[in-house]
Amino acid sequence: MNTQFASSDINLTLQRYPAKQQSNLQAWDAADEHIVKQLTDSLELENSPELIEGTELKNSPELDTPKLPNTLIINDSFGALTCCLKSINPNWPLVFETDAKTSLLGAQQNLANNQLNIDSIDWQTSEDELKQSIELVLIKLPKNLNYFNYLLCRLSQVLKPGTQVLIGAKAKSINKALLGSIATHLGEASASLTYKKTRVITAITDGKARALPPAATWQQDGFSMTNLSNVFSATKLDIGARIMLDNLPDGEFESIVDLGCGNGILGLHAKKRYSKAHIHFVDDSHMATSSAKLNWTNNQLDEGDASFAWEDCLSNLPDNIKPDLVLCNPPFHQGEAITDHIAWQMFSDSAKVLQKGGILHVVGNRHLNYHVKLKRIFKNCETVASNGKFVILQSRKL
Ligand SMILES: C[S@@+](CC[C@H](N)C(=O)[O-])C[C@H]1O[C@@H](n2cnc3c(N)ncnc32)[C@H](O)[C@@H]1O
Repeated sequence: MNTQFASSDINLTLQRYPAKQQSNLQAWDAADEHIVKQLTDSLELENSPELIEGTELKNSPELDTPKLPNTLIINDSFGALTCCLKSINPNWPLVFETDAKTSLLGAQQNLANNQLNIDSIDWQTSEDELKQSIELVLIKLPKNLNYFNYLLCRLSQVLKPGTQVLIGAKAKSINKALLGSIATHLGEASASLTYKKTRVITAITDGKARALPPAATWQQDGFSMTNLSNVFSATKLDIGARIMLDNLPDGEFESIVDLGCGNGILGLHAKKRYSKAHIHFVDDSHMATSSAKLNWTNNQLDEGDASFAWEDCLSNLPDNIKPDLVLCNPPFHQGEAITDHIAWQMFSDSAKVLQKGGILHVVGNRHLNYHVKLKRIFKNCETVASNGKFVILQSRKL
């Protein structure tokens, strides 16, 4: 796997998060290179010496009007853009915004590994309030376009008219409809020429504030459900989750983890079935944990019977949680990349934290062969149910 980023005269070592994952995926892509190239080209055009590291800022006659724009970076997978800007100038004022905990941890890991200054970075989630002082925005186009539209409307509420927003993406993801949608939600947009099969869209804010799109709401098996914009299975129950719910294990479970909880539908059902249980909801997506929390309270469940964590799998499970059941409908992609390393990590973490005799209950697409992984980790795996497409598997901590 290539970890050496070399582009626009910037050299970095970049890893995905967690660094030891069993995948061959790279921590950045050509759209990152393209955004940085477009930015550095425009800086050179402005011929602004105080932007470049090592220039004597103190002696600059323009000290009163420093030109480093207060920059908001959104959806920067593992911090490649953030590291590039900090290596151009360690004083570049940055706000790093993400919905994914692994993205935040990855960016912090890469900054540290490249001895880059993290002090002047504000870290925030896409649910935090945006600063009005933002002068430039860089976005990696997210896979989920509902989330993207939410981001644009949110930006429209704070950015001054004329602010530049650069959006990098694979050229094949950029079309007239996308440019039209950016114009509707933020301001006029145009796309660059292609570079390594990517384009950078430049949008210029028109200064009109748009209302945030409402969260999706619906009724599911007697529960009222709300999904914030970046949450899995936006307006209906996932078919894998359906099979899982039809085949919950028998028993008197008291401490249950809903691992990769999304909107929390598995945990809500678990509370109905195992009434004495405490449910611990975990997800990498901040909006997922917020949705699970909303759904718990909106369905009048007792606050003390649940906890919610924005975490990478079970790497930071609180000591007081000793699960006897983990429910898991694992993801098979990370951002744009198809990968089974998160499923591996979810299974291995479950094996570490489960009580002796405790159960990991998993649903998966038949062709993913999760039973091979589970057997390797737990030394046992039973097929509880199956249909043409999905299997429900169960492993017990020995
Ligand atoms: C297939 S969805 C399942 C959602 C929900 N449990 C359901 O059954 O409808 C997988 C979930 O795993 C979450 N996820 C992805 N990577 C994760 C990680 N490293 N740690 C925790 N959760 C993660 C995703 O955000 C997503 O909500």
